[in-house]
Amino acid sequence: MSDPLTILGIESSCDDTAAAILRGRDVLASVVYGQTSLHADFGGVVPEIAARAHAEKLDHCIEEALASAGLALTDLDGIAVTAGPGLIGGVLSGVMTAKGLAAATGLPLIGVNHLAGHALTPRLTDDIAFPYLMLLVSGGHCQFLIVEAHDSFTRIGGTIDDAPGEAFDKTARLLGLPQPGGPAVEESAKSGDPRRFDFPRPLLNQDGCDMSFSGLKTAILRARDAVVAEHGGLTRADQTDLAAGFQAAVADVLVEKTSRALAIYLAMNPETPGFAIAGGVAANATIRAGLIELCQKKGVAFVAPPLKLCTDNAAMIAYAGQVRMQAGEADDMTLVARPRWPLDKTAAPMLGSGKKGAKA
Ligand code: KG4
Ligand code: ZN
Repeated sequence: MSDPLTILGIESSCDDTAAAILRGRDVLASVVYGQTSLHADFGGVVPEIAARAHAEKLDHCIEEALASAGLALTDLDGIAVTAGPGLIGGVLSGVMTAKGLAAATGLPLIGVNHLAGHALTPRLTDDIAFPYLMLLVSGGHCQFLIVEAHDSFTRIGGTIDDAPGEAFDKTARLLGLPQPGGPAVEESAKSGDPRRFDFPRPLLNQDGCDMSFSGLKTAILRARDAVVAEHGGLTRADQTDLAAGFQAAVADVLVEKTSRALAIYLAMNPETPGFAIAGGVAANATIRAGLIELCQKKGVAFVAPPLKLCTDNAAMIAYAGQVRMQAGEADDMTLVARPRWPLDKTAAPMLGSGKKGAKA
């Protein structure tokens, strides 16, 4: 084993096929093949199409990562692969590929929890100190985690139905905007009036850090249909006002719930308090600004890894695998692909399981 460790990471749990090479903290290569166009006609990720595409692309993706890092398989110290949670066909493709490579090379095989990959990324990018509070917010995830160690996570809340990214995507479809919906809704909202429509802020009247976004989707649908019924269609102003109203509601919910999560976290008296965000929705400037302001008020450092490491990628899997290896952990050929795999084994199961599969 060399120092620093050089790890191949493999990710295929949803709709991105990804491979990366990490040496120490240096991301030598990170290749991501998206599948958005394959699923575009279906209004969500189709598991069978995703699994087939992963199986076709994984080898090329790994070859490309090795080539771009200028390395061969013999230069590696280990192979880390997402073993769950996610769409089972995709996770299986990755695990079988990793097992084949490990068997052929004799390299250690390390199964990684996809959510741990996201949750540990702020350590790779910013060396944030344990314990920190993490908000994972994407098309498939929405949860607050207190990250105490590489293998110790406490979930203190999450969505009970849809993830915010799903709600952004659905809102875009309702407003006739392109996919992925997040950036399109954000762009449209820039010229809209967030106060014209009075959208709900679900679960704000209830204690705790759980969230709900499915009612908000329905509210957008109703508001849009009411405008269409009255005027025969949507003007550009209607569209931008609906987008702005929706975005403001999501931002309010995330900021208020983060405030409550921070109160729970700060009660632990962390020495160097830190809050980190990950997932595609973390790209949203309005949401980000609200969270930054909140952290400033509470005296908590705000960390947002670069977007390409916030969204699904394999560098985060390589990093989580590297940390497991350093702790003396590894798997063997009995490693299984798991559709559900909660990070916090003691928390009650999440209820939601949206278009991107189980949220664990
Ligand atoms: O993390 P990610 O790439 O994939 C997973 O879902 O795991 O997140 C994608 C999601 C999509 O639903 C997309 O609409 C949303 O993140 N998203 C955004 C923005 N950019 C991407 N949502 C709001 N504002 C954005 N600027
Ligand atoms: Zn993810």
